[in-house]
Amino acid sequence: MEKKQLYINGEWVDTKEFYELASPYNGEIISRVPLAEGSHVEAALSSAHKATAVMRGLTSLERSDILRKVSDLFEERLEECAIILTKEAGKPLKAARMEIMRTIETYRFAAEEAKRIHGETVPMDAAKGGKGKFGFTKREPLGVIVAITPFNFPFNLTAHKLGPAFAAGNTVVLKPASQTPLSALMTARLFEEAGLPSGALNVVTGRGGDIGDSLVKDKRVKMVTFTGSLEVGRAIKEKAGLKRVTLELGSNSGVIIDSVENLEAVAARCAEGAFSFAGQVCISTQRIYVREEFYEEFLRYMVEKTEKLVVGDPSSELTDISALINSRETERIEQWIHEAEQGGASIVTGGKREGTILRPTIMTNGHPKLSLSCNEAFGPVVLVNSYKNWDEAIQLINDSDYGLQAGVYTTSVHKAFDAFERLEVGGVIINDIPTFRVDQMPYGGVKNSGIGKEGIKYSTEEMTELKFVAFHL
Ligand code: SIN
Repeated sequence: MEKKQLYINGEWVDTKEFYELASPYNGEIISRVPLAEGSHVEAALSSAHKATAVMRGLTSLERSDILRKVSDLFEERLEECAIILTKEAGKPLKAARMEIMRTIETYRFAAEEAKRIHGETVPMDAAKGGKGKFGFTKREPLGVIVAITPFNFPFNLTAHKLGPAFAAGNTVVLKPASQTPLSALMTARLFEEAGLPSGALNVVTGRGGDIGDSLVKDKRVKMVTFTGSLEVGRAIKEKAGLKRVTLELGSNSGVIIDSVENLEAVAARCAEGAFSFAGQVCISTQRIYVREEFYEEFLRYMVEKTEKLVVGDPSSELTDISALINSRETERIEQWIHEAEQGGASIVTGGKREGTILRPTIMTNGHPKLSLSCNEAFGPVVLVNSYKNWDEAIQLINDSDYGLQAGVYTTSVHKAFDAFERLEVGGVIINDIPTFRVDQMPYGGVKNSGIGKEGIKYSTEEMTELKFVAFHL
């Protein structure tokens, strides 16, 4: 069994201790992954700190070229990367390839963004005391950024942190999710090949907790960017002190189906939104509210589309849905389904578990206080309920501690704008599911869904410091 190494200061480093990485699908051991110790974390931080001067010294064009080269390398190695993803995350091959295609694009956006980090002139004489002054701003890199990434899109959500960080001239210590370290190590290899200066990227793998704490609390770190659970996000925010923090947390995203031209197509899209990567997506479609006039018809279509999904081995070309990340998560969701049934909800399809696979599950009549309604399920289960009027639908979506994205299907322009105004979320997707995302758009939630925005232009800006100069003329 191949043993992996940490990547610190441009070198591949051995550790004494390892953990065995098991396939979420069949439990087969796929790799031995280094368990970083305190000394490795210190080495990673110190090399990232030293490399800040080198990164600041690169021109925009040099930073852009490195990112473009990485994007090209991902393109060349698309199939190899997709296979890594299928093995370590249990992501079906079709979806894994799509994630790599997005990763290629995300690094391309970052390469472009590196060339357009602007400052602006400030009209100093707009204030009485500003007469005779000339002022302008520029954006400077922050320095060392700690990136803590999740298991669900381990290549692309890492790209959403490394891409803008390097576009802006920062250095990074990356701590990937313990379930998906292989994608992070592969990413480091490609950056090494692309000519990223030594120390600009450091990857420490291990089992969260202690490593994360040391990284988040360290004084050399200027920003922490995290995607993952609300619980861990809260702990990071408390420990980070005055550092800048971006948190991309969860949601229980909802969609309103008000008026549509093709109900069958909408049901197919909702099945995709609810079950892609077995619902392990922060913007998975978890709550569907359908106008009561066509609720029954929608449900029939939705069940039909869901039952056609192919469930099984992630390495098969045909599979749509495979295992959840581990048995603990599978059992938790199964438990939430039982709780919902006891609370009066009904399973219309699915609800069965085999090992770490939970069949795509549609439930109806779920009341708003169920775990399945108000918490993030992060599994292949969706609640479909009906509503009577528009205001009620808006209220149902907003009745949540989360607010990442919401979808609204309507043929009324008035209702579309009303939804945009009134929904308490970071992004409103009209005539599509809340699960829609392309990588340049602003992405980030309100309420418990997080702080800050991703989407390359926006995260690049968050990863810079605005500096101002005034000249007395
Ligand atoms: C996420 O789960 O936060 C990311 C979803 C996506 O990028 O499509």
